[in-house]
Amino acid sequence: MITYQIVFEGTIISSATFDKADFTPETLTCVDQSGTIDRVISAADTDYQRVKQTAKNNGSLYQVPKGSYLLPGFTDLHIHAPQWPQAGLALDKPLNEWLNTYTFPLESKFKDLDFAKKVYQSLVKELLANGTTTGLYFGSVHTDANLILARICADLGQRAFIGKVAMDNKDQTPDYYRDDSSEAALQETERFIKEMLSLQKETQANLTPVITPRFVPSCTDETLLGLGQLAQKYDLPVQSHCSESIWEDSYAIDCFQMTDAQVLDKFNLLTDKAVMAHGTQLRDSDLDLFSHNHSAIAHCPISNAYFGNSVMRVNEANKRNVTVGLGTDISGGFSPSIYRNMQQSIMSSQMLEDSGTDNARLSADNVFYLATVGGAKALHIPVGQIKSGFKADLQIVQDQYFDVFSNEPQEIFERLVYHTNKENIKQVYVSGKLVHENRGEE
Ligand code: GUN
Ligand code: FE
Repeated sequence: MITYQIVFEGTIISSATFDKADFTPETLTCVDQSGTIDRVISAADTDYQRVKQTAKNNGSLYQVPKGSYLLPGFTDLHIHAPQWPQAGLALDKPLNEWLNTYTFPLESKFKDLDFAKKVYQSLVKELLANGTTTGLYFGSVHTDANLILARICADLGQRAFIGKVAMDNKDQTPDYYRDDSSEAALQETERFIKEMLSLQKETQANLTPVITPRFVPSCTDETLLGLGQLAQKYDLPVQSHCSESIWEDSYAIDCFQMTDAQVLDKFNLLTDKAVMAHGTQLRDSDLDLFSHNHSAIAHCPISNAYFGNSVMRVNEANKRNVTVGLGTDISGGFSPSIYRNMQQSIMSSQMLEDSGTDNARLSADNVFYLATVGGAKALHIPVGQIKSGFKADLQIVQDQYFDVFSNEPQEIFERLVYHTNKENIKQVYVSGKLVHENRGEE
């Protein structure tokens, strides 16, 4: 019989479908030495007592306390790592003004590697404490600062997808913060890819480089073309922003007489490994293009309330088989919490429905699926479900009102979605390894 790394005993909550999260009491989740879930054993199974006793004997049994639950860790599909110092600040201007007034000056500071280290340590710890086991990050233009972020993710144990931001269009970027030329943008992107791949080899951490044109307006055609070629050459994921706001959407129409999605597609950036942020302005035809290309969308509902000029149509995308996950969009979104973004995506969907879009409402079950399965599907990684064959990226979450209110499974689940704060996230695991623990007062 396999000796497991860890065996969790308790109630699991995990999604298999968009419509309904499954609540399964009394299970053993058995994690093998490679960090993969080997078996999930229910109490009715004849093996249950035997596996439990063996785990107990060799010290690998972890009993989830009463009133706490085992959930998959979350995937955050859109984080601007260098914007962490202004999370919650400077949200008083529309997107383009916000970039020029606050964001480019802040990101330009990441030339300073000591500053980068301090900020990135704080950010990655905070994300883990909020239950985010996988992050898809935009770095800054600075290759070396981005490598510091990668090293920190490796050290702290977070699964990380990281991009060196490419931005070289002199008309749309300030002279103090851009790639010097298209060649420089492409060369530095390639250097970043190679360094990331060797860091990955050295640390054996879950690190993946990502091709990252900031968005269509900030890149020249040459850079967009070259980045599309690099994505293909190294078979890497791509991330960018797509039709985030009326301004961004109109920019593509004005300059290319095409929609933003069509421009990205023209440069071979809308791939089956692409994750495009926001998409509030996407037309039905754009959603069909995403669906045809198997490209995914990072829905960032908090950020969209500030910059999106609209609410992204998650149900419409889902109906058209477009993969959607959630993103915080730090710092366009102020919160590092995917819980907070699940809540906002429900609230925003109600407002979308009330303003005349039929069937726009999202439920707690829907958004939990986005945060777990949706994010994992977007990145093509075997996480987001508590199921045999998936990586043990997990969080143990306490229902703070367990003793007070009634405890039907659906009530517990919805309370967790609406009320979980980082204080209630007791432990976080990546590949079965403990990466965050909050002992609290209890
Ligand atoms: N579009 C281009 N850059 C950015 C950014 O940093 N944040 C957001 N939300 N949108 C962008
Ligand atoms: Fe963004």
